[in-house]
Amino acid sequence: PTAENPPVRRLADWSPERLRELADDHGTPLYVFDLDRARQNYRRMAEAFPEADVYYAAKANTARPVLQALADEGAGVECASAGELARALDAGVDGSHVHYTAVNPPDRDLDVAVRLAEEHPGVTITVGAEDTLDRLADRGYDGRICVRVNPGVGAGHHEKVTTGADAKFGVPYERAADLAESAAGAFEVVGIHAHAGSGISGEDLSAHRDLVGRMGELARDVEGRGIDLEFVDVGGGFGVPYSPDEDPLDLEAVAEATREALGETEATLAVEPGRYLVADAGVLLTSANTVKETPSGVVVGVGAGMTTLARPAIYDAHHEIRNVAPGADERPSREVTVAGPVCESGDSLGDHWLPDPQRGDLLAVGNAGAYGYEMASQYNSRPRPASVVSDGDDARLARRRETIADVTAVEPEVDR
Ligand code: LLP
Repeated sequence: PTAENPPVRRLADWSPERLRELADDHGTPLYVFDLDRARQNYRRMAEAFPEADVYYAAKANTARPVLQALADEGAGVECASAGELARALDAGVDGSHVHYTAVNPPDRDLDVAVRLAEEHPGVTITVGAEDTLDRLADRGYDGRICVRVNPGVGAGHHEKVTTGADAKFGVPYERAADLAESAAGAFEVVGIHAHAGSGISGEDLSAHRDLVGRMGELARDVEGRGIDLEFVDVGGGFGVPYSPDEDPLDLEAVAEATREALGETEATLAVEPGRYLVADAGVLLTSANTVKETPSGVVVGVGAGMTTLARPAIYDAHHEIRNVAPGADERPSREVTVAGPVCESGDSLGDHWLPDPQRGDLLAVGNAGAYGYEMASQYNSRPRPASVVSDGDDARLARRRETIADVTAVEPEVDR
């Protein structure tokens, strides 16, 4: 990290004038994404892990300009579904830089993945169950395979995103080497993979070290059976601070611990960060529609709810909020509850100290670049918001705002 490329971009670093201008041009709720910040995040990651291949976990943000900007920096792309795979390839990412991680894949996903892998040489399919191999063979696939292992070690910011010890993911560690060996007869086995969880902090470093150590051992076992692994993928999960009093992850220390724990192998290290590359590159803009005094405090009703940004409702995640209305900084702060428009009491962006919010104020929600738009839904027949991507002085629409007609477009016409 350098002064030009600091480890964290704070919500306070976004220009309120610029955010107000974008809200005026595109309306709210609006996701705003700064491509340059994602590039900076990628560079810090690549500098910390110079020996590794960095795959961007597209599930954090699949907007086409984001995929393209990171791929142009040199990132590969990790895809969690046939849809993400199609979009990464469609965005122009070379097949040899794309991994498709098949988690209990529906038939339809495998059909598409096999077809796309044939059309785009170099795609690797990561398999987390023995019978996924049979299903691929049934489709005539004999290409590049990576074996996903359940490392038995988990970590993460919330139990719902702790993956490593969850039996749903990967083949049991004890069976992985045998599986790689038997698969090598029918496929090209090029890698092994494990992922501990999402939102790993400095305190989880020992879990990360355990996972990498186990993967190093497995790599040596597999290599000892005469299989030349191209890579050992130790997953993503690198956490970012969501509030000003949290410290950023010491990426150099994580990289050092990774190197040490991995030990000797001919294979290249691979990491697949999602959140780390995009979280602080995005904010969500929303307007205060209602300000209400209640016996239990002030409620500020905003346009963005759990259908816009699901993380607070699902994980109790904290996202910093700033009042970016003109002159707001001069107002006294008060504690308010920021609540969305969805008919559920869990539809809240949390309690915040904000310069006295007035109806019409523009609020900016921080760290919305990862798992923000991606997890948006149409619940309550609420069209999804727009998202814009800024690149220097340029800002362009990445996703137009949906309309109610988009919500109903999938319904067959019925005679009434
Ligand atoms: N690789 C694999 C196999 C994964 O399952 C994930 C995330 C990643 C990489 C990227 O993890 P990251 O670096 O972004 O932490 N919706 C949740 C996060 C779910 C993550 C699922 N898997 C949230 O908003 O916190």
